[in-house]
Amino acid sequence: MTDTLTDQTDVHARGREALLHEPAGGDPGKLTLVKAKGSLVWDDTGKEYIDCTAQAWSNNLGANDPRVIEAAIEQTRQITHARPTFHTPALLELAELLVSIAPAGLDRVGFTLHGSMAVEMALKLALRNRPDAKHIAVLHDSYHGRSIATMAASWPHPGNVFGALQPQFLRLPRPDGYRPRAGLNVDQDTELTLGLVRDVLTKGTEGPVAALVYEPIQGNGGHNEFTPRWHQGIREICDEFGIMLIIDEVQTGLGRTGEMWASDFYRIDPDLLVFGKGVGGGFPLAGVLAKQRFAKFLAGDDQLTFGQFPVSIAAGLAAVKAIIDDDLCSRAAAHGRYATERLLEMQTRHPLLGDVRSPGLMVSIELVRNRLTKEPATAEAHEVFELAQERGVIFGESRYGGLGNLIKIKPPLDINREQLAKALDVLDDVLTEVESVVDGAGSVPS
Ligand SMILES: Cc1ncc(COP(=O)(O)O)c(C=O)c1O
Repeated sequence: MTDTLTDQTDVHARGREALLHEPAGGDPGKLTLVKAKGSLVWDDTGKEYIDCTAQAWSNNLGANDPRVIEAAIEQTRQITHARPTFHTPALLELAELLVSIAPAGLDRVGFTLHGSMAVEMALKLALRNRPDAKHIAVLHDSYHGRSIATMAASWPHPGNVFGALQPQFLRLPRPDGYRPRAGLNVDQDTELTLGLVRDVLTKGTEGPVAALVYEPIQGNGGHNEFTPRWHQGIREICDEFGIMLIIDEVQTGLGRTGEMWASDFYRIDPDLLVFGKGVGGGFPLAGVLAKQRFAKFLAGDDQLTFGQFPVSIAAGLAAVKAIIDDDLCSRAAAHGRYATERLLEMQTRHPLLGDVRSPGLMVSIELVRNRLTKEPATAEAHEVFELAQERGVIFGESRYGGLGNLIKIKPPLDINREQLAKALDVLDDVLTEVESVVDGAGSVPS
């Protein structure tokens, strides 16, 4: 028994060392997960955790939902692989279902397996429709993935060595809800930034801009929410300059904000919408919804061998049906209201808690050393993350360059109230603990 365990430990140690994505010597804090159910995960020591990350905000429907697992098993028994030159029944049914729940006018759909590849699909479709274009625009602090192109579309990657292969994107400024430009409030910052965007598009380009792609709430770039006026102003600018508006809902889609799409929540009218993460019910799946008036792809433009992987598609069909049947949008909205109320109350007691952000179960808090200067409390945020994990709650940590002081609370949308309450209780406790030991923790302003 002991020998078997030792053997397994050795194999795991050698495996860790072999992994290309691990730092040399391994990451001692990294858990090895063996099981998941709903909002819970278990590690290889048998310890249970409430997973407030939904595994990269992807398990909108809790982990291992029996409807998804059954659909995937059944599909696996029938046919696991069909290249993109063939259809499967689930593919056609999921296409029809997604188009029926998409924001108005988005009645074409394409599938792939990763959010990054879906963003690339959207970029290709934009260029297919605007072959004379010289640019594709993105916003400062955006995050669109880690393929070569989407990495370039995202906030500058620290120590980027991939430049020789990366396209140049036109980077446009964005307003900031928490740190508006000096002397301005959020509304004024939004108006000013819309003007700056207009200036860049008028004077700062080499020719037509095919598309502007942005996240309705910037996720990895710091949980930056925009005002409805920003979305409306950007739509007007896109219409004026003949630019396709691509909304990246890889993170915000499928109920996360309390509506099926953030585009519904903010009344955005995208020309293309990118989805991913939650759509697959824990299986890799992503894609693009597009307006009918755009030309489709030509043969060979966007075909990947496993791009329409039948098992993911069948799982996705079951997951989307379950999200609708269980009304997870309403549950996300209600849980989000509860979490936000509790966090705002905590903010009156915890000087570290600089800002509380939502909507729905897209919840984050920003920790600051001083609420007036808003100096990021990055080390403290990491401490909160580690202490919470020790106590059985996994929060999302922001590794965003320059800030890194966000704690993200984005569990599955069907988390139960007791689990959510427990996670917030643990957060409350660890904030108290970190504030009691950290020198210079801020003071609550009058
Ligand atoms: C907004 C957004 N777009 C694209 C991606 C990339 O998705 P994937 O990691 O599945 O390639 C992510 C992933 O975090 C994301 O948050």
